[in-house]
Amino acid sequence: MDIKKIFENNKEWVEERISTDPEYFRNLSDGQSPKILYIGCSDSRVSAEELMGVGPGDAFVHRNIANMVPNTDLNSMSVINYAVVHLEVDHVVVCGHYYCGGVKAAMQSSDLGILNPWLRDIRDVYRTHRDKLNAIEDEEERYKRFVELNVQEQCVNVIKTADVQRAIRKRGLTVHGWVFDIHSGKLIDLKIDFDAILDNIMEIYRLDD
Ligand code: CO
Repeated sequence: MDIKKIFENNKEWVEERISTDPEYFRNLSDGQSPKILYIGCSDSRVSAEELMGVGPGDAFVHRNIANMVPNTDLNSMSVINYAVVHLEVDHVVVCGHYYCGGVKAAMQSSDLGILNPWLRDIRDVYRTHRDKLNAIEDEEERYKRFVELNVQEQCVNVIKTADVQRAIRKRGLTVHGWVFDIHSGKLIDLKIDFDAILDNIMEIYRLDD
């Protein structure tokens, strides 16, 4: 892609937006009140807004390799704090995707240098669900299930934060686990049973006000 083309594309986009709504950018600059925090993968094939059919102002977005929510990661923790406490989003979504390079790398045993600690959190998901995953003989099916279980565990990591626990209690914030299937373009709701997960983890991770 020619980098100059991006600026031509932008000019066309601005003209197109203004032609349908002359106040479009003035309204955008008034502020944001998105209802969704979307935590997804940095993968170039998984564009957050486009796959959800939403536009600027609709979703607060955080992306990193393999849609991770590591509890000592100041970046994702700050995003969750800002979105949940200050923007008061109603939904937190963790969206993974099949054919995720980060998840694939965690299934292999190469030393990848600075990526090792990041991938280790994904490997921890494998260890937690080792019996279930090892029981799946087909490698592609095991890889897909690992992607889904990683989404589930990152949702659990979201729920472990005090900000999210408080928002669930006080205003009914909901957490969702989704997977984007690159092969079909479809977004899949994993329908994770959060009541069961909450019951299971709160004994250990509950943080009261
Ligand atoms: Co990915």
